[in-house]
Parts: sequence; structure tokens; C-alpha cells
Amino acid sequence: MKNIVDEGIRYPQKYSISPKITREYCERAIQFILNKIDQNLETFTYKFPAPASINNVYPAIDNTDWTSSFWTGMLWLAYEISGDDKYRKIAEIQLADYKKRIEVKICTDTHDLGFLYTLSCVAAYKLTGNEEARNTALKAADLLMTRYFEKAGIIQAWGDLNDPGNRGRMIIDCCMNLPLLYWATEMTGDGKYYNAAWNHVNQAAKYIVREDASSFHTYYMDVETGEPRFGKTAQGYSDNSCWTRGQAWGIYGLVLSYVYTGDWKLIELNKKITNYFLNRLPEDYICYWDLIFTEGNEERDSSGAAIAACGILEMAKHLPLTDPYREVYQNASLNIIQSLSENYTSASCPESNGLLLHAVYAKPDGKGIDECNIWGDYFYFEALVRLVKDWKLYW
Ligand code: GLY
Repeated sequence: MKNIVDEGIRYPQKYSISPKITREYCERAIQFILNKIDQNLETFTYKFPAPASINNVYPAIDNTDWTSSFWTGMLWLAYEISGDDKYRKIAEIQLADYKKRIEVKICTDTHDLGFLYTLSCVAAYKLTGNEEARNTALKAADLLMTRYFEKAGIIQAWGDLNDPGNRGRMIIDCCMNLPLLYWATEMTGDGKYYNAAWNHVNQAAKYIVREDASSFHTYYMDVETGEPRFGKTAQGYSDNSCWTRGQAWGIYGLVLSYVYTGDWKLIELNKKITNYFLNRLPEDYICYWDLIFTEGNEERDSSGAAIAACGILEMAKHLPLTDPYREVYQNASLNIIQSLSENYTSASCPESNGLLLHAVYAKPDGKGIDECNIWGDYFYFEALVRLVKDWKLYW
């Protein structure tokens, strides 16, 4: 692996204090979420929230985008935390839609089969032992494997495998799609899924992570020779800046690969990219949409903050008690969660059907700017669930 600089924590006092987040505090925040889910249940039983809201309201769409499972995943979290069967029933209605989607191949030209089938079907299997959901998720893992290029050791992110604009393009977000593959090996005993995920995460660590511990959003590989080509952004400010959500996907994604492989070098690398992220947070701990911005009037990305909080909490769990970063990272996550909870929820915007305001989907494309993003809602909920119970990963 190339030598990647560790900035350490530049402002240690910022992460030396743990905010007072009590159990009651988290339960109140979770109750707010459950109330919001209840208001949305009817609209989003046979339809799904669009990836981003319009004027803070998610339109209802079919199960055709990469984001449907964040809603289904929220239903599973709601079921798990409340024990109320009404959430399970609707999640189970939706499972049929995921089954159809993979069988008929509706908008499946994407690596996000990982997100889609982990938070819907794998979660269903883990929570309820649903065998049909398990089989559906295994079909999704098989389809995801068709996007793997052996020579380059990577999974192509988007589109047709022969499309020259997408061919051999891997993206940092994909680290979150790898758990579906590791899980498929656990289920079947067939190591091919694990090997593909393992090779991909190593290639991402080698080429997507830069020497200063920032990340490219996307990176092109030559799939014929296996040689690296070049990094390029899609959703960030520029090719050389660090798109915030990409860095957050990297933080959570690397630790998930650690969970499945036990390879400590992933944690060592994760500390560096986490420090890079934490060093660029403004005073209220909520990141701008690209880490090139640390102050001023650019939009925040509350969804990136929620993803990072979950990933950093997960990493902290695996650090030895003697590691000083354990406390730093716990404090960092708690400060992020508190700030989201107090300043970024839709409590201040009752007409919204989302949870977290002030996220950015894709600013260069003019998409979802300063809106709710459905994955931000999911990860905010997951973060709070992590604080009130010993949560077993759906990932
Ligand atoms: N994975 C796509 C996004 O984060 O916008």
C-alpha cells in the first residue's frame, strides 16, 4: 500500500468533550423518527421515497432507483427498536418488489445492488430468518458479481459494462456494497464473493485513497490490462477536491470490510481518512458538501455527517480500550449526532416528510441541493439505534 499521511487530529480540544447524550435524549429523537415514519407509512407501502426531496418533501416513486432500501431499512430499524409488527408487515410487502426487481432486472445495472439488497433482504433474513429474502439477496450478489473485472480486481459502479464512459470506473461509495458479497460467501461457502470484495477494497485503498488521506470520488481502471488510469469526480467540487460523502462512504465501508476480514490495515487506513474528515468539520460538526469547504455559505451535507457518525462509531468499537482514538472517535460521533438532532431535523419544518434537512445529492448536476436525502434519514436513524442498543449490523 502507498504511504498515506496521517494528519492526526488538528484540533484535539474539539473532540475532547463528550456531549451529554442520555438514553432519554436518544429515545426522544427516535420517537420523533417513528412518528415521521408513521406519517409516511401509507404513502410508502407500494411506492418508495425518491432519493432527494423537493422543497423538503420526497415524491413517491417505484422501486427503480438505487435508494429504495434506505426506506425499507428504516422500517426494519423501526420494527427492531419498537417491536411493532406494523413496520415488519410493510417491509415484508416490499420484499416482493425487491424479488421482482432482481428477477426481471429492473434498473439493476449498478453496483448499488449492495445497498438495495442488504438493507431490504439481508436485514429481513437476519431479523426474521426469512429464507425467500435470503435467496433474493443471493441472486443480487450473483448479479453484482457480473460487474466484477478479474484482471483489474474491481467492481464497475455504473451502467452497461461496455459503455466507454463507465467501463472500469470504480467509486468509493462501492465500499458500502461489499458486505453483500462477504455475506454471500458466509451463506454459500463459496469464496468467490469474498475474493471479489477483498480485491475491490484493496484496489480502492490503493488508488481511490490519495496520499494525503483524502479520496477521489471515482477512479478508472484499464480492465484489459489491470493498470490504473486516473481519478475523476462525479459529485464533488472538482477532480482534485474531496467529495464529502465519498469520504464518509469510505470511512464506513472500510470498517465494514474489516468486520468481515479482520485485516487491521483497513483500520489503520480508516483512522487516516477519518482524521482527514474530522479536521475539516466546521464549528457545528456538520460537514460541507465537499471537504474543500470548511467555512462560508456553501451547503452542508447532513447525510454525509450521518454516514460518517455510523462508520466512526463502528470503528471505535473495534479499537482497543488503550487506543486514545477510541474516545476521540466516540466524542466526534456523539457531537455530530447531537448537532444533527438539534439543528438539522425536520422538527423545524413540519411539512417535510423527511428526517434530516440540509443534505446535498449531486451539486454539479443541480440535484437535491439543500434537501432531504433518504440515505441521510436512514443513517441518522441507524446512528441513534446504535446509541440505545448493542445493534447487530444489517451490513
Ligand atoms: N452513492 C451515491 C451517492 O452517495 O450520492
